[in-house]
Amino acid sequence: MSNIGSYDERIKNFDWNIAEKELDYEPGNPINIGWYCSDRICEKGFGNKPALIWEGSAGNEKRYTYNDLRLNSNAVGQFLRDLGIRPEERVCLFMDKIPELYIGFLGILKMGGIAQPLFSAFGDESLFVRLDNAQTTAIITQKKHAPKVRKIMDKMPYLKHMIIVDADPSKPLADREVAFDMEQAEKPEKFTIHPTYAESPSVLHYTSGTTGQPKGVKHVHYSLISQYLTSKWVLDLQESDIYWCTADPGWVTGTSYGIIGAFSNGVTQCVLDAGFSADNWYRFIEKHKITMWYSAPTAIRSLMKAGDEVIKKYDLSSLRHLASVGEPLNSEAVIWSEKVFGKPFLDTYWQTETGSMMITNFPGMKIKPGSMGKPFPGITATVIDSETFEPFGEPGKIGLIAIKPGWPSMMRTYWRNEETYQKKFKNGWYLPGDRSSIDKEGYFWFVGRDDDVINTGGHLVSPFEVESALLEHPAVAESAVVAKPDFVNMEVVKAFVTLKPGFVGSKDLDLEIMNFVRKKLSPLAMPQEIEFIDSLPKTRSGKIMRRILHAKEWGEEIGDTSTLEND
Ligand code: PRX
Repeated sequence: MSNIGSYDERIKNFDWNIAEKELDYEPGNPINIGWYCSDRICEKGFGNKPALIWEGSAGNEKRYTYNDLRLNSNAVGQFLRDLGIRPEERVCLFMDKIPELYIGFLGILKMGGIAQPLFSAFGDESLFVRLDNAQTTAIITQKKHAPKVRKIMDKMPYLKHMIIVDADPSKPLADREVAFDMEQAEKPEKFTIHPTYAESPSVLHYTSGTTGQPKGVKHVHYSLISQYLTSKWVLDLQESDIYWCTADPGWVTGTSYGIIGAFSNGVTQCVLDAGFSADNWYRFIEKHKITMWYSAPTAIRSLMKAGDEVIKKYDLSSLRHLASVGEPLNSEAVIWSEKVFGKPFLDTYWQTETGSMMITNFPGMKIKPGSMGKPFPGITATVIDSETFEPFGEPGKIGLIAIKPGWPSMMRTYWRNEETYQKKFKNGWYLPGDRSSIDKEGYFWFVGRDDDVINTGGHLVSPFEVESALLEHPAVAESAVVAKPDFVNMEVVKAFVTLKPGFVGSKDLDLEIMNFVRKKLSPLAMPQEIEFIDSLPKTRSGKIMRRILHAKEWGEEIGDTSTLEND
């Protein structure tokens, strides 16, 4: 029997206080995610249960029980407090998927800090704009990533500490640098958890928009209510589950479901800190007897590409439930997974701003391959007309996804950017910026984004950020960045570039520019293709018309070009 039972019954009787009661939370009392994910599970008698089973790229393993999670996060919290870091100051986590990332996250929350996870493959420019916007007080990192921080240290007087978790004891550290060895650190049995409340800030995640700088999505401790219950009802986490969430906590899936949802439900979760390969993934599932697997369409399509033969080498019979997030999950992938694993991947739709799943397929519900499913109980979602902002009265029409604000894990604002936050609401609806239709049985069918943001392999990339980075290259005069179709990643970044006088397009220049962007931003943001052209299509007012370049890449109608400069 699945945790959710009957979806229709749950919808009828739903109230978020179901989760509050299960978590013994009384409105008005303190609520701290760090405590709920470690101390509370120990108090319930599961201190010796494995919480985190971690495997590195060399196959090395580390195991932590819930009691280890509790003590180690106490150690992190104490260390930060002793450094003088105060509640609500931002503490960035800039690490690979190592245990210190998961446990450090809980430690920051326990001392009342705001956890700011950033993807460790970010280059110095991507890192700087996000730390600068957040005015981050401390960054916790590994020695392999420290050079990227050192490069921008002088521009960040507010960054008081760089904490290195694997510092070499024989090497002296520079000013503002400090070593913290979690394994060796003293682990306080008693740690006074900062009394955070429902509206106390907890996590700051950065997401990309079409224009301007990345936006810092502010979440609060009350988000736990949504993350706990969606994990229980959609991921169907049960006491005996061995759970694997493949997402990196640099992104929201890796925190909402790779940390908070998993640990607050007290399951055992496995983490693989290694690059992707079909063999390695199947081996990992077999070795740890994974029962619940939460992944992403790009990974699933890569597994499809690797073929069915490799699957036969492994015993994957432990798998009982699969789910996916981040990009459209095409029907072929759902049908394929049912064929090879005996279960379909259930699609779930949400975003950094929503903090938890909004529209999903539920265990036990009829699955329509290619559909995102139906709204989670307590979520009022529909599709509205993009001009009147009114819901359509009939099924089948394509419009903007619209959600009634008010669920527990809704972002509270964009950090130092309230104006952009307010623009996300129209006519009493929150607009995630996606287009969809709803069929007559109430299933949502994703159509596309309503902006120019590129979704490559489930990661959002801002064309603006890539264009700005390109302009810093000495050869580049102008640039326009659009999505290009790709079988595995759905979309990849493509750049159109005009060169400054004296430069000529060549394979070498192409590679040089690609690498330039990779180092500054990240491998995800690096254009997979650069096309050198003589001039970019622009409006009469000089604005680059990405729409035309996009349409060309996708073989679509170009549409209205009446404002084009040189038509
Ligand atoms: O465009 C939607 C797409 O990813 C966006 C959210 O990206 P991000 O904030 O990085 O969070 C990703 C993980 C929650 C959405 O606005 N997206 C997410 N899930 C789906 C999706 N597109 C289609 N189908 C999905 N299931």
